[in-house]
Amino acid sequence: MKKIRNFCIIAHIDHGKSTLADRLLERTGTIQITEGQMLDDMDLEKERGITIKSHAIQMEYQHGGETYTLNLIDTPGHVDFSYEVSRSIAACEGCLLVVDATQGVQAQTISNLYMAIEHDLEIIPVLNKCDMINAMPEEVEDEIVELLGCDHSDILRASAKTGEGVDEILEAIVERIPCPTGDEDAPLQALIFDSVFNPFRGIIAYFKIVNGHISTNEQVLFVNTKKQYQADEIGVLKMDLSPRKELHCGDVGYIVSGIKTATEVKVGDTITSVSNQCKEAISGFEEVKPMVFAGVYPIETEDFEQLRASLEKLQLNDASLTFSPESSVALGFGFRCGFLGLLHMEIIQERLDREFNMNVITTVPNVSYHIFNKHGEMAEVHNPAGMPDAIEIEHIEEPYIRASIITQTDYIGAIMKLCLSKRGELVKQEYVSGNRVELHYDMPLAEIVIDFYDKLKSISKGYASFDYHPIGFRPSKLIKLDILLNGEPVDALSTLTHVDNSVYFGRRMCERLKELLPRQQFDIAIQAAIGAKIIARETVKQVRKDVTAKCYGGDISRKRKLLEKQKRGKKRMKEIGNVQVPQKAFLAVLKLD
Ligand code: GTP
Repeated sequence: MKKIRNFCIIAHIDHGKSTLADRLLERTGTIQITEGQMLDDMDLEKERGITIKSHAIQMEYQHGGETYTLNLIDTPGHVDFSYEVSRSIAACEGCLLVVDATQGVQAQTISNLYMAIEHDLEIIPVLNKCDMINAMPEEVEDEIVELLGCDHSDILRASAKTGEGVDEILEAIVERIPCPTGDEDAPLQALIFDSVFNPFRGIIAYFKIVNGHISTNEQVLFVNTKKQYQADEIGVLKMDLSPRKELHCGDVGYIVSGIKTATEVKVGDTITSVSNQCKEAISGFEEVKPMVFAGVYPIETEDFEQLRASLEKLQLNDASLTFSPESSVALGFGFRCGFLGLLHMEIIQERLDREFNMNVITTVPNVSYHIFNKHGEMAEVHNPAGMPDAIEIEHIEEPYIRASIITQTDYIGAIMKLCLSKRGELVKQEYVSGNRVELHYDMPLAEIVIDFYDKLKSISKGYASFDYHPIGFRPSKLIKLDILLNGEPVDALSTLTHVDNSVYFGRRMCERLKELLPRQQFDIAIQAAIGAKIIARETVKQVRKDVTAKCYGGDISRKRKLLEKQKRGKKRMKEIGNVQVPQKAFLAVLKLD
């Protein structure tokens, strides 16, 4: 146990976590990097450059004539997955806090750091990207010193790109991070910090042994789910799974036990031995709850069963995806899906498209609402279309978040204005360094779900970072806004908005839909209504859209291409009444100004 070091890397997005991880693996001879980055193995992750699922890998490192085992536990870098981050951090004794020397401390640096401090991790600050000409090592070091209360000499300067400073980082891991503690002779207590789905072996759960030891073929109990399994195979995570007969206190390893679906294994659960059970589970276990919901509908009605099968397959390796069948007058039969956040939703949408070739329409995402009736009973509603009549509602509560925004002083005014327009309440404002400020806002999650981040980025010219965590439900004056096309209400376009914004919102929805609906052979009336009252109206004038008109005869291949394009464009259309509505229109509300 004395020669084990369990650590993770925490950083704001793009500050160089994956690149540094690769360098460490390379320097310890664990892998030879040829191209690409090793830790992100899903296609999609590569494209997005975001580590979606955490993994762990074991390295060996020589120090003072001894061989040390270094377990690097990778953490996902996005707020949607912050519970997973917290469990990975809980499995470590130390962390590298990586800060980009050209960017300085950002919102996620701080939120991840708090988690690390909460779990008593030894923190090694690393100033990355020191090779870049626009690096500001002194300023950023000052920020880190301010943040951690450490000495300048504690900060390691490095470049994950050139490899500069990587040896010093490895030395610091061994020297500064404490070895795991725990009692080898106590009953087994192992923390599950991640799990992955393998089509041949089922679920592989990753764990860290906090107390005791585990052997192959032992009967084990997952404490929170109360399920028993046989440990068919246990081992450590090298480049591949590397089986072992036994694993001991402080080790990081994996278990294969014939579990078929991800929903059976909960991150944060405790593994113990059936014959020698631990007294209690490791603290901090939570059931992750979806935060964002949206309708997912097949374009062709007959694809409904296939969509169900695809969602079931996705859920095999992504337990945080939830879905239940629902129907929409406008869209037919589909599913209401629950996601951890917007990024998670986009990932699922893309995976449906790529892995299952499922062409779907997704509706505007919304949060879950607590609807209280006159008798004080509460119902949870995941779809604005499913709201009871206004007359039956006593009050509505919606989820709130505490947001942290770090930006330069120049942008404070614009950001405050934005937050105000999103119903934000300023809680605190504090300086990170000379010209950078951290703003804390309480805001409805619903406002974040809709285009907040994009707006923040654009008004701050990219100089604002953002992070948030949920702080519970609060009462709000919300009302349902309906959209009608040629007099037909389109339930999939219904939204809940705050009373004060509803008229403006309805007007903008109509204007936006007018831009998005293609002209057809008849006029289309677009109306926004609250209850029976129409509050806005626009008309799309009739005309047949002839895409080839702009080709002025001539080039036939270009004409064919355009027609092809139009055909493809058509595929993502849904017929509502007699109106063809493109996918874009269902997301119209996301792009309102
Ligand atoms: P997420 O997984 O999205 O959180 O990003 P990350 O923190 O893992 O960042 P990643 O390692 O993907 O690096 C982001 C970008 O910065 C990549 O283009 C890297 O090549 C580049 N980069 C990382 N470290 C350095 C460095 O030390 N110097 C320079 N010049 N570029 C670096």
